[in-house]
Amino acid sequence: MQIPSTFQPPPRVLMGPGPSDVAPSVLHALSLPLLGHLDPVFVQMMEEIKAMLRAVFLTKNEMTFPVSGTGSAGMEFCFVNLIEPGDEVVIGVNGVFGGRMVDVAERCGARVTKVEAPWGRIIEAAQIAEALKGRKPKLVAVVHAETSTGALTPVEEISRLTHEAGALFVLDTVTSLGGCPVRIDDWNVDAVYSGTQKCLSCPPGLSPVSLSPHALAIATKRQKKVQSWYLDVNLLASYWGEQRVYHHTAPISMNYALHEALRLVLVEGLENRWRRHEQNHLALKAGLAVMGLELASQPGHQLWQLNAVSVPKGVDEAVVRKKLLTDFDIEIGAGLGPLKGKIWRIGLMGETSSRANVKKVLGALVKILNEAGQNIDGSVVLAAVDAVK
Ligand SMILES: Cc1ncc(COP(=O)(O)O)c(C=O)c1O
Repeated sequence: MQIPSTFQPPPRVLMGPGPSDVAPSVLHALSLPLLGHLDPVFVQMMEEIKAMLRAVFLTKNEMTFPVSGTGSAGMEFCFVNLIEPGDEVVIGVNGVFGGRMVDVAERCGARVTKVEAPWGRIIEAAQIAEALKGRKPKLVAVVHAETSTGALTPVEEISRLTHEAGALFVLDTVTSLGGCPVRIDDWNVDAVYSGTQKCLSCPPGLSPVSLSPHALAIATKRQKKVQSWYLDVNLLASYWGEQRVYHHTAPISMNYALHEALRLVLVEGLENRWRRHEQNHLALKAGLAVMGLELASQPGHQLWQLNAVSVPKGVDEAVVRKKLLTDFDIEIGAGLGPLKGKIWRIGLMGETSSRANVKKVLGALVKILNEAGQNIDGSVVLAAVDAVK
């Protein structure tokens, strides 16, 4: 073969559903010299990661650490450890990731009851209450922020109903963590997973997870061994816990990067970070409104970090997306499943969530749509963005 030259990625603004842009200090962390994964200095850093993750998840759960793998690994971690074959579970499905949870739970041998909502809408607590009537499931799981549709499901009441039914509450916070309020202890969440590449603004590769003492007790008192050796919390606990027993070789550089990304989240402050995401979402929405573009997700429950924009009639969404990428170096996402061809997904996650990026993507969209025959006054769009303080 002809050996290719060293890879050099083009400059891009990552405004899709993830990964998001990463701060220079996080990229720098990736380039630091390696340590052995049992080196006391690395082990000390792991302790700091665990403490910072607890601060970001707003939990005191001892069993809080990053699983080696992307968000889907965190999802599997929760299900493989908590479900035994034949267990009944209830799962909210209002987009791709609820559907993925069903698939994962079924692979664990669960009998799944799906609670479905149209894509773009939330899972209502009343639907969960209805599904729990006459059932005694082991767990109830929902996706907090559905990245495929831009809807944020409120979870406090769902959690209350779940516990009333004697079940564990499992929450997907892959897209919500770091971008909007996530309160694991206040909301009584038993098992939660997230991803690094969204509002934490770290490259993909780790999945922060947290188990309540109750969930951990259930995982440790199982009848059958966890079918995944790699994701068995009973084994992982000895590596991430005090014993430091070798389990697998931790991805050293990714942990450096997560350490720095979490530090940046905490330096900014959770409340400030949530407010920044909210304000930039409102600014984007205001600019889109002037252009005659609306969000497709349920009013009152629209994500700040992922904006599902309805594609106007007569516009080929793929052509616009391609032009954004090739002419403006801006990546946005397409619709999935029933929303394919109908929405653009504009991410304002973590580092990407800035007023400059809101203006950049709107300015580029105005140019592209005007070239295609529309007559949008870009200065009015930008004035609407600036009006959001
Ligand atoms: C809500 C949600 N859950 C789970 C996942 C899966 O994460 P990953 O792609 O990192 O495996 C994603 C990824 O986009 C997601 O948005």
